[in-house]
Amino acid sequence: MLKKFKLKTFGCQMNVYDSQKISNIFYKLGYKNTSIDKEADIYIINTCHIRDKAKQKLYSELGKIYKIRKNRFQNNKNTITIVAGCVAQAEGEEIFKRVPFVDIIVGSQSYQKLPNLIKKIQNKNKEKNKQLIELDFDPKSKFDDLPKEKYINEVSSYLTIQEGCDKFCKFCVVPYTRGPEYSRTVEEIVSEAKFLIKNGTKEIILLGQNVSAYHGIGFGNKEFNLGKLIYVLAKIKGLKRIRYMTAHPKDMHEDLYNAHRDLEKLMPFVHLPIQSGSNKILKAMNRNYTAEEYLKIINKIKKCRRDIVFSSDFIVGYPGETKEDFQKTIDVIDKVEYVQSFSFIYSPRPGTMAYNLKNALEDDEKKNRLKILQNKLRFYQEKFNKNFVKKSLKVLFSNSSNKKKYQSLGYSEYMQLVRINNKRNMQGKIENIKIKKSFYKSLEASPIT
Ligand code: SAH
Ligand code: SF4
Ligand code: F3S
Repeated sequence: MLKKFKLKTFGCQMNVYDSQKISNIFYKLGYKNTSIDKEADIYIINTCHIRDKAKQKLYSELGKIYKIRKNRFQNNKNTITIVAGCVAQAEGEEIFKRVPFVDIIVGSQSYQKLPNLIKKIQNKNKEKNKQLIELDFDPKSKFDDLPKEKYINEVSSYLTIQEGCDKFCKFCVVPYTRGPEYSRTVEEIVSEAKFLIKNGTKEIILLGQNVSAYHGIGFGNKEFNLGKLIYVLAKIKGLKRIRYMTAHPKDMHEDLYNAHRDLEKLMPFVHLPIQSGSNKILKAMNRNYTAEEYLKIINKIKKCRRDIVFSSDFIVGYPGETKEDFQKTIDVIDKVEYVQSFSFIYSPRPGTMAYNLKNALEDDEKKNRLKILQNKLRFYQEKFNKNFVKKSLKVLFSNSSNKKKYQSLGYSEYMQLVRINNKRNMQGKIENIKIKKSFYKSLEASPIT
């Protein structure tokens, strides 16, 4: 009888949310979670396809699993290997061809089918090489049929409200790996939010590949945008903080600006990826906004709440990016002074429109530009953090660090990681605490008793 599962997750927050749901499926089936490789009767990898490096992580993980399976087999134990998520969706059968021992491939919108798939694999009657694959895009049934039970309680919880993307930026795999845009209903979201809060959640991070394009059916059969949805959620007692990610500049809207103006629960930190500061490159990427339009949006949000800060994603070395184009990205960073960001060298993805574009730029030059850009980002992040030394910040404490016995970790309203050496258990509390030291990526607070 199979008993334990190990789940490894790569990729974005949406994969983390999905992995929690996948875990719930296994708990409900009577499995226990394990972090020890050789104990895993089921080994499942939730994958990411966004850049080539992310994809390669699947294959190196499968290399490791090959050895584990072999050892377990010698001890008369079988291992079911499952590949889930965005690489599963994008590469499908190819994965079986490359790694024949994989038992199940399940795409990012089909996790509700896992109990059935596992049952089938367990009953395969010694048929050799029976493998199963499920790649349907059926987000409605995914959300309707995934277990509602919750087995792990967190102070800060992800809640996926929107899946997929219709934007087709030329570099990006998401429209292919997650399918067309789909929004959950307001009722479903409110009910999941209330459930989370009942189980100890204080902060909800609303997720979507394109969260600002949310357009779910709400009360009175009317369509609700993200702003309107946030007004509804903010009324829930016990919910202390609301965040959303990832927003696309093109879909920012009046109700959302107003929500930032009116709702204290909506945190003053917005992740708004620009990708490039050059209009030529933005056009080539099919981003559908100019740098000037983007900056206007930033100013509009700032007018609604003065202390609001921003983070972004950047792609460096997109085909056709000249030194001047790159400089325009740096100029935007100087204007916005982002407080944290993600930045990547462009990675050509098979199946996307940019895949066959010629890229004359040398690898060294791409690396050089990335370094310059990251140094710039670091400068503003350090500057921002330094600002808070000897000042107080409201911190929601989410957990205790395993490394030091009494260290609690939490996040400020501006999404800064704050550490504190404290004898008191702070989990789930929002405290106004004094900052002692600042670092590039975190803050340290003076202990309170
Ligand atoms: N929906 C979000 C982004 C989701 S993907 C948006 O439109 O902003 C997360 C980030 O990965 C992107 O913002 C982009 O910076 C990066 N990314 C996506 N495809 C990439 C590629 N082919 N090469 C390098 N970075 C990429
Ligand atoms: Fe990808 Fe563009 Fe959609 Fe973002 S908006 S997920 S970058 S296609
Ligand atoms: Fe990766 Fe899929 Fe997220 S490709 S970034 S895990 S949507």
